[in-house]
Amino acid sequence: MGKIITIKNNKGGVGKSWLTLQLAHLTSMIEKSPGINHKVIILTSDSQNNILGYSGFSDNFSVGLEQLVNKGESSEIRIRENLYYVPLLNNNFSNSFREKLKATLKNLKNNYDFIFIDSVPTLNIDKDFVDSSDYIIIPTFLDTATTEGIIKLMDEIDMTKILAIIPNKFTKLKTETEWYKILKNQVRGTNINLTHPIKYSSLINSLIEKGKTIWESKARGAEETQLILYGIVEELIYE
Ligand SMILES: Nc1ncnc2c1ncn2[C@@H]1O[C@H](COP(=O)(O)OP(=O)(O)O)[C@@H](O)[C@H]1O
Ligand SMILES: [Mg+2]
Repeated sequence: MGKIITIKNNKGGVGKSWLTLQLAHLTSMIEKSPGINHKVIILTSDSQNNILGYSGFSDNFSVGLEQLVNKGESSEIRIRENLYYVPLLNNNFSNSFREKLKATLKNLKNNYDFIFIDSVPTLNIDKDFVDSSDYIIIPTFLDTATTEGIIKLMDEIDMTKILAIIPNKFTKLKTETEWYKILKNQVRGTNINLTHPIKYSSLINSLIEKGKTIWESKARGAEETQLILYGIVEELIYE
């Protein structure tokens, strides 16, 4: 039975789409039994479909989540070995779509080991995704508004589902370090893994430009970020 992981933050630009792709790609590269890797699929509630660009694909598709949910049509795009992406065509969801979405997610759990969801909060299906999730991962900035936002989010969602909080685009500002300490206090006594911050990095930007993931880089500068992400996936797989 597959596990569903939603990458969530109510703020844009924190790295939800990019991190979803990095975590899903790593998971798909790890063996679940000798010679057989995890089969991984990514869904999204964002019709910008940024993950296609981040993985080196054009947004040239005619079927997506709508057709998968409404008609059971296969609509996944193979973006790497063992890694699939279901695009989203538009943002209009009927109530019947939402009902069927739950059944689709159940079905996917029978066919995939891990289902990652790159979630956008403005849509009502975000709630369905969160409710169906086994785990939630929260990327964040270490600034006032975003940190306060995730402290609020921790009140709103089932805390026990939160696997990790990943501070991203860290620039070593004094205020960022202070917010990190506050978050550290917030997660004390919970099972939430507040990871080391991922630095703002031009290497990451250039990999994205080339449509490559961090696992396809041999640059030494990638190692620090790789280790942080590896720790999360390890927890996810071996939990
Ligand atoms: N650690 C980082 N260093 C540099 N650029 C980053 C980093 N993380 C994400 N980005 C860039 O920031 C932008 C926003 O990331 P994205 O994943 O699309 O955010 P979201 O999905 O939360 O809106 C993208 O252009 C991405 O390449
Ligand atoms: Mg996004």
